[in-house]
Amino acid sequence: MKDFAGKIAFITGGASGAGFGYAQIFSEAGMKVVIADYRQDHLDEAMAYFKEKGAPVHAIQLDVTDRDGYAKAADETEKVFGGTPDLLILNAGVNVFGPAEASTYADYDWVVGVCFGGVVNGLVTFVPRMIKAGGQRHIAATVSWGAFGSGSTTAPYSAAKAGVLNLMESYWQALKPYGIGVTAICPANIRSRIYEAALKNRPDEFKDTGYNVSEDTQKLLAGIHAHGMDPRVLADWLKKGIENEQFLVIPYNHGPRMAEIAMERFKYYASPEGMRAWEEKQKQPPTEEDIMLNSEREGFDMSESLKQRSYIPKTGNGQPPKDTIGFGKARADLDWVDPNKKFEK
Ligand SMILES: NC(=O)c1ccc[n+]([C@@H]2O[C@H](COP(=O)([O-])OP(=O)(O)OC[C@H]3O[C@@H](n4cnc5c(N)ncnc54)[C@H](O)[C@@H]3O)[C@@H](O)[C@H]2O)c1
Repeated sequence: MKDFAGKIAFITGGASGAGFGYAQIFSEAGMKVVIADYRQDHLDEAMAYFKEKGAPVHAIQLDVTDRDGYAKAADETEKVFGGTPDLLILNAGVNVFGPAEASTYADYDWVVGVCFGGVVNGLVTFVPRMIKAGGQRHIAATVSWGAFGSGSTTAPYSAAKAGVLNLMESYWQALKPYGIGVTAICPANIRSRIYEAALKNRPDEFKDTGYNVSEDTQKLLAGIHAHGMDPRVLADWLKKGIENEQFLVIPYNHGPRMAEIAMERFKYYASPEGMRAWEEKQKQPPTEEDIMLNSEREGFDMSESLKQRSYIPKTGNGQPPKDTIGFGKARADLDWVDPNKKFEK
């Protein structure tokens, strides 16, 4: 898809962060844009921006886990803008972090429900409508760099994102003959408000977390996201990917090399000799290339944190260091979780 002017975009989670960046860039490209978001305060803020621009943008309050709500949002889009979306961006997502062994059903049900289930619901709602409407159309999903590798404290999130990457690949293959393109974009750190999700967006029925989540842990995450990629820059990467009919966009100059290195681990895991070689490899200090690629993805100098084998920047943009606030740790009362048993990479 190369021409955007006059066409319709539907963006989930379109009122903040990455989604708001897409809404701006595709609105500036002349599209009529629906922003569908769970948070009314985010929608109000985004709509104030678009009203001032006089842009044709329509807000719908939607929880992507609500299938009836999705169908109603699709009907509303047709009523307001006169057709089914030409461009569907499945972007809404949430996260929360802690040791895998501390995870509750609610941690999985919430994170996987929104990040994976929300994408499934978008596809099942819109794909039949898009095929029936005909013409050149496109579906994109904001996946995550997390899809390329799991972490001991990111189980629900990285599992959901790896699932979304595979899911989008299936739809890419299935929809090509219909003239519908599919793109998965996998950013690492984005300047967004995703750190608010665990305290503000988590419905009561999913409140039972096994992780240590507090104002302080989320403040640390906010400090990390402050270094992230500008959502408008991310949106430019996505627009170029859509124009080029590219399935996978890793929005960095060294994206293809990043993918190559990330996937290499499976070659090692798949034999006993490989496992031994992998363990030896992990004992080596980070290479110049590791430091360069990690810093490019995260938006800050990772040399110190890689040497410490930790994601957290040493100074954390003035935030307190990791151990004083327990980011990525278990809820204190889970007596089977031993904080000293850490995965040695
Ligand atoms: N921030 C990052 O560093 C980062 C990195 C990689 C991928 N991502 C992904 O980018 C996407 C966008 O997140 P962001 O970082 O811009 O966060 P954000 O919180 O700034 O924006 C996400 C928007 O989605 C909305 N949302 C949350 N749950 C929803 C639901 N159930 N239904 C509908 N809307 C919902 C939120 O209200 C919010 O407005 C997510 O899928 C996230 O996993 C983020």
